[in-house]
Amino acid sequence: MRVADAPGKAILFGEHAVLYGAPAVAIAIDLRASFSVTNSETWILNGEEFNPMENPYLLPLISKFGDFESPLCLNIESKIPIAAGLGSSAALSVASALAISSKPQSIEKIARAAHHAEALAQGGRASPTDTSTSALGGVVVVAPSVIDSLEHRWAIDLESPEGSNHWDVHSLQIPENIAGLSLVIGYTGVPSSTKEMVEIVASRMTSDSFKSSMDEVSSLAQSSINLLKTGTPSMIGDAMNQCHSLLREIGVSSLELESLIDAALPFSYGAKLTGAGGGGCILALAKNPSACAKAIKEAGGVAFVTSIAQQGVQLKTN
Ligand code: MEV
Repeated sequence: MRVADAPGKAILFGEHAVLYGAPAVAIAIDLRASFSVTNSETWILNGEEFNPMENPYLLPLISKFGDFESPLCLNIESKIPIAAGLGSSAALSVASALAISSKPQSIEKIARAAHHAEALAQGGRASPTDTSTSALGGVVVVAPSVIDSLEHRWAIDLESPEGSNHWDVHSLQIPENIAGLSLVIGYTGVPSSTKEMVEIVASRMTSDSFKSSMDEVSSLAQSSINLLKTGTPSMIGDAMNQCHSLLREIGVSSLELESLIDAALPFSYGAKLTGAGGGGCILALAKNPSACAKAIKEAGGVAFVTSIAQQGVQLKTN
């Protein structure tokens, strides 16, 4: 039996804007998804027979790393809520790619294949943020060109309905006092489809006021890279609050997200929605993690206290 697991992710800065030439800064989180594989007579997924040709996520990964003629019994166990903006499908894509392959694979190859699968499933609009963060762990910056001050990992190109995209993927080392802070995730319980949210945003990109809010998200994401290296928790929290206001202007917040933000803010340096929005989660940089989690629960959310997961995708049993 081969078992691989990978972390989910939360975007600190630059969601949506990363599809329009902005950088995105994401962290891997302590919630992980695990994927196990054993040889089998027929294709089985979580105890039920399935046709790999009809599974949009697994089809490209089995084509690349497996063999349709050699069926596998696949099992998924995940602590990452689904459709919550926490990269559950990306974590499963990278973990499944590593588990399905019977030969050793580089992290880069796994991340590329998982991004390809995500992009196919998201109608061609998917940055490599989620898949690269799940693959690498730690703090990841995805940008339209190489950032010399960061460790460059790989480059990825994609044709989307809006044209050609190019991203350079980097790892960002942040100081201990920031890396050690607690983050509290608040899940609204409202599922959100990334595919639908990126389609809605794409349809609004014709308006000038909309584009200018997106430009502001972009410059905030740009300046957040230095802020994470040299800023204080308060400065980072303020930038998260600003980012959230802009995402609200872009129209990807919701009543449930706003109510969890209001609950978290008194116990946090800053808080924002994370991921595609519309539902899903908020992310708070907590001053008092247990009080913040309690307030989120009292406001009707599900709270996870997390920190940055340094370990990316890994093979646990071979
Ligand atoms: C992904 O978690 C969030 C978006 O930025 C889409 C993407 O990067 O592919 C909205």
